[in-house]
Amino acid sequence: MIVLQIKEEVDIVGVRTTARSIAREIGFGLVDQTRISTACSELARNVFLYAGEGEARIEEFENPHSGLRITFTDKGPGIEDIELAMKDGWSTSKSMGKGLPGAKRLCDHMEIHSKSGQGTTVIIEKWLLQ
Ligand SMILES: Nc1ncnc2c1ncn2[C@@H]1O[C@H](COP(=O)(O)OP(=O)(O)OP(=O)(O)O)[C@@H](O)[C@H]1O
Ligand SMILES: [Mg+2]
Repeated sequence: MIVLQIKEEVDIVGVRTTARSIAREIGFGLVDQTRISTACSELARNVFLYAGEGEARIEEFENPHSGLRITFTDKGPGIEDIELAMKDGWSTSKSMGKGLPGAKRLCDHMEIHSKSGQGTTVIIEKWLLQ
C-alpha cells in the first residue's frame, strides 16, 4: 500500500505513473495498465482542480478476487449532486465533464462518497480475473 500526496500539478503524473507500475507488477496487461493510469490521471486532476489538494492511496487486494484499488480523498468543497456529476458532459469548470464517467467506464468498480462542504472520496477498483 502506498499513499501519494496530491498538492501540485506534477503530482498527478506521479499518481498516474505509480499506479501504472504497480498494476504492471501485479500482473495487469498493457491495456489494463493504460485504463488504470488514465482513470487515475482524471481522478487526481479532479482532486487538484476542485479541492486544491488531497491524496491517493494505491493498494492491492485479494478478496473476493485480486485486484488494485485506488482511493482518492480530499477535503475540498464536495460534490453537491453525485448523479449529475456522473453524467457525461456535466462540468462546473466549463471542461468536458468526462473525467468521472470516463473513469467509471475504465474500471470494474467505482464509488463516490461526498457531501457538500465535507470533501470527496472516490474509490476505483480494477479486478485481475484469470
Ligand atoms: N474531487 C472533487 N471535488 C469537488 N467536485 C468535484 C470533484 N471531482 C469532480 N467534481 C465535480 O464533478 C464535476 C464532473 O467531474 P468530471 O471530472 O467528470 O468533469 P470535469 O472535471 O468538469 O471535466 P473533465 O474531467 O472532462 O476535464 C466537476 O465539474 C466538479 O463539479
Ligand atoms: Mg475532471
